[in-house]
Parts: sequence; C-alpha cells; structure tokens
Amino acid sequence: MGYGIERDAALALVREHLQNENLVNHSLASEAVLRAMARKLGHDEDKWGLAGLLHDLDAESEPDLATHTTKTVAILTEKGVDAEIIEAIRLHNLEPYPGASRTTPLQHSLAAGETITGLVTAAALVRPDRQLGSVKVKSITKRYKERAFARGANREIIAECELVGIPLTDFCGLSLEAMQEIAGEIGL
Ligand SMILES: [Fe+2]
Repeated sequence: MGYGIERDAALALVREHLQNENLVNHSLASEAVLRAMARKLGHDEDKWGLAGLLHDLDAESEPDLATHTTKTVAILTEKGVDAEIIEAIRLHNLEPYPGASRTTPLQHSLAAGETITGLVTAAALVRPDRQLGSVKVKSITKRYKERAFARGANREIIAECELVGIPLTDFCGLSLEAMQEIAGEIGL
C-alpha cells in the first residue's frame, strides 16, 4: 500500500531539509524505532517508519517549539503524503496547537519513539567507546529515571509507550535493539 511517498524519496527529502547530520541520524533512528513498534503492535511497518523518518523535516527551518512541525505539515501535504502520517507528525509537538492532544496509536508511538532516541543516543555517547553496541537495556532504564540525564528527552512523552501497550522496560529494549541494528548508519 502506498503512502504518497516512497522510502527513498522520503530520505532524499530529509537530506534536502536537514543539513545537520545529527538530525538526519535522529530521523533514521526514529524510523528504526517506529518500525520496531509497528512490528510489535501489528501495524504497518512502512507507514510507521515513514512517520519516524519524516517527523523532523522542519527542525532546522522551524527550530522554535512554538512553530515546530507547522512547516513539515505544509511540505508533506503538498507532496500528497498519507493524512494519518501527517497528523501524527503534526502532533508529535503539541506546542503550536493549544487544546490538541494525541489519541491514536501512531500519534502516541511517534511521540514516544522519536523521544526515546535521544535517551538511547545519550546513553551511548557517555560510554568510553561512544558505541551503541555496548549499551545494555538496564542502563537505558536506569538513565530514564535520572531526570538530569538527557533532559531534552521528555520522560512523560517517552512514557506514552504504555498508552499503546508497551511497558516501559520493553520499550527501552525494543528501541535500543532497533537502533543497534543501524548503529553504523547513524554514527554510533
Ligand atoms: Fe524528533
């Protein structure tokens, strides 16, 4: 089934809009986590993967959280991308949309999945070898509880995994494994 854009074109769009390699890597990590979540929950991996890959297209052009996602919505609407993907991307940052909330499994999963990538990346970067391969699930769950660690990774949003039926510990393991599989690609 098509979602208005192929994966190769989606990655090209990411590279067109994001010059910072860390943001490209974050997009790829989010794709991997969202695919793993879809697999676990019995949803469409390609669809959820595209939501992860494309969610931060305007992170450089609209870095302010008061407007972040507004431009991405415009770009993806113009491309004819699937409406559910666009809506999940729109709502991964609620700040521009007072009164809005996340309700669907994809919406909760994108918000939780893209956010945990920051925690997993930070857990790798504090290791002496700075490699994802040597990070254990236990260290992710421990870091989750240390609120001062990787502050940008909002713990309440990560906890939305529970709203789609994935317990937090399982979610840490699933995300770590998904990112380890593409560690070479994302510079970890
Ligand atoms: Fe993101």
